[in-house]
Amino acid sequence: MTREQSVSEGDARGRSFFNEPDAAGLMHRAFTRSMGFDLGDMNRPMIGILNTYSEMNSCHAHFPELVAAVKRGVWQAGGFPLEFPTISLGEIYLTPTSMLWRNLAAMDTEEMIRGNPMDGVVVLCGCDKTTPAALMGVASADVPAILVSGGPMLNGHWRGETLGACTDCRRLTTEYRAGNLSDEEYMEVEENLVRSWGHCMVMGTASTMNSLTEALGMALPGNGAIPAVDSRRLLLAERAGRRIVAMAAEGLRPSRILTHEAMENAITLLCALGGSTNAVVHLPALAGRIGMDLPLALFDEISRRTPLLANVRPAGEYQMEDFFYAGGVSAILRQLLPLLHGETLTVTGRTLGENVAGSEPVDTQVIRSAESPLKVEGGLAILQGNLAPSGAVIKHAAASRHLLQHRGRAVVFGSIADLQERIDDPDLDVNPDDVLVLQNAGPVGGPGMPEVGNLPIPKKLLKRGVRDMVRISDARMSGTAFGTIVLHVAPEAAVGGPLALVRTGDEIELDVPGRRLHLSVGQEELARREAERNPAEPAYRRGYGRLFLDHVLQAPEGMDFDFLRGRDPVETVTQPKF
Ligand code: FES
Repeated sequence: MTREQSVSEGDARGRSFFNEPDAAGLMHRAFTRSMGFDLGDMNRPMIGILNTYSEMNSCHAHFPELVAAVKRGVWQAGGFPLEFPTISLGEIYLTPTSMLWRNLAAMDTEEMIRGNPMDGVVVLCGCDKTTPAALMGVASADVPAILVSGGPMLNGHWRGETLGACTDCRRLTTEYRAGNLSDEEYMEVEENLVRSWGHCMVMGTASTMNSLTEALGMALPGNGAIPAVDSRRLLLAERAGRRIVAMAAEGLRPSRILTHEAMENAITLLCALGGSTNAVVHLPALAGRIGMDLPLALFDEISRRTPLLANVRPAGEYQMEDFFYAGGVSAILRQLLPLLHGETLTVTGRTLGENVAGSEPVDTQVIRSAESPLKVEGGLAILQGNLAPSGAVIKHAAASRHLLQHRGRAVVFGSIADLQERIDDPDLDVNPDDVLVLQNAGPVGGPGMPEVGNLPIPKKLLKRGVRDMVRISDARMSGTAFGTIVLHVAPEAAVGGPLALVRTGDEIELDVPGRRLHLSVGQEELARREAERNPAEPAYRRGYGRLFLDHVLQAPEGMDFDFLRGRDPVETVTQPKF
C-alpha cells in the first residue's frame, strides 16, 4: 500500500488504530469501509457520539435529531463521527429507582470511551441520572469531551395555570387525594402536563445538573436551558460537533477543566438556582472521580454566601422555558461572577468569565440581580446532630418557613413498604406537628436511595388542610418536590446509622438556622435499642444488585462504588499486532 492509499501517520488514537501494520490495520480499515467510509474519512480525528436514546426514556425521544446535528458539526470541522450507544436511564420507567444504575451508566460511558479508539467524544444526556453518569464517566476516562443535553420540555398549560413536571404531578395528586380534584380534572392534568419531549422543566435534578455542566465548564453556553424543541438546541449540538474536533487537536481533556475551582463554581450555581438536593450526591461522586473530596460542609459554606437568584420552581415561580427567555445560565453566572472562579477553563477553550461576559438578565423577575435576590442565602443547608453524625440535607428554599425551627413527636415508618401500608390508615396516630420519619430507604436500605424522602402527607391530615410537615429520611427526593424535608441522613439506617434507632413517640428537633438535627433520647436507651437491632436481609444476593450492595458508598461520598473513585486516563493507544 502506498502512503497516499493509507491513513497518514500521527499519534491520535483513531489514526493509530487505522494505521496498524499487517492484518490488524487491514481489518480495522476493511470493516470500516463496510459502512461506506473511505481512507479520507479514516484520516480524520475519530469523534464518538455517545447516544443515550431509548424508547424507555421519553426525555431522550428526540436524540436522533440531536445526533444528526452533532455529526454535521463534526464533518464540517474535519472530524470522523461515529455514533455509539450506552444504557439509557429513564427516570419514569426504571424500578426501584434509576439511581441504582447511575454507576453502571458511568462505567458503561467510561469503558466504551476507553475501549473504542476515539479522539474525542460528545455525550448526549438529559434525564436525571444520565448527566451525572456522563460527567463521572468522562472524568475517569479523561478523553476530550463535551456534554450536550436534550434540553427542558416546554411549559405545560391547563385551565389558565402553568404546569410543571413533576412539581405539579405531586401538588395536584395531593389535591386529588384530598378530594379537591375530580377524576375528569385529574385526567385533564395528565393530558396537559408534558407538552413536548425533553427533560422535566422545573429546576429538578435534570435542569439542575444540565445547568451545572456550564459552570463546570463541560458544556457550551446554552446547554442548561435552551428548550428541547427550540431550533437553537440543534445549533448547540452542531457547534459541539465542530468544537470537539478542535478540542481533540488541542488535547483539551476533562482533567484540565474539572478542577476544585470548577467544582466550587458548580456548587455556587447550584445554590443560586435553588437547585436539586440530588446534586449534593452527584457532585461529590464526580469529585471522587478526579481524586478530590467535596465535604458537605463546603455546600453549606457556599450556600450561606450565595444569594438565591433563580425564581424557578420549586423554589420560585417560573419554569425553565421562562428562565431561558430571561437569559438562561449565562445570565445568572454573569451575576454570580464576584463569587465564582471566573478564570477556570471550559470546553470553549475560553474561561468561564469570558464565556458569560456581556450576558445580562432580560427579565429580572425570573433572574434576580445580586442586589435584589429572591433570598440572601442559597437554597440548601447541611444539618448535623446526633441523628445525622455524617450530615443531612434540606432544601430550605422549598420548605415552609414556620417549620424551619420545629420540635415534634416522631411517627416512624420502618421501610418504604411500611410507609405505603400505613400512611393513609384512618387509625394512624398522627398530628400536624408530628415529624414523619422513614427508615431504611438509603443507598443500601432502599436499595439505591430512591426518591421517597418527600413522604406523602397522611390523607386524614390532607383533609384537614395540612400541606406540609417535617419529614426525615435517609432517602433522596425528586428535585421537583417541595416541603420541609430532611434528606440523605447519614449514615443510613441500614448500615447502623442512628436513624435506625428512632421510635414513634421520640422527640426530634429540627433547627435549620442552627443547622441542627437532634434526637432527644438518652445514650443508655439508644444503646439498648442498638443491642436489639436486627439488620434486614440484603435486597440482592447476585448480579449487579449484589455488586451495588457490596460496593456502594454513603450519600456524602456520592454513592459511587468504592472501586470507581479516581481516574485512569486513556493514553494514546497502539493496537496489538496479530
Ligand atoms: Fe426525565 Fe424528569 S423524567 S428528567
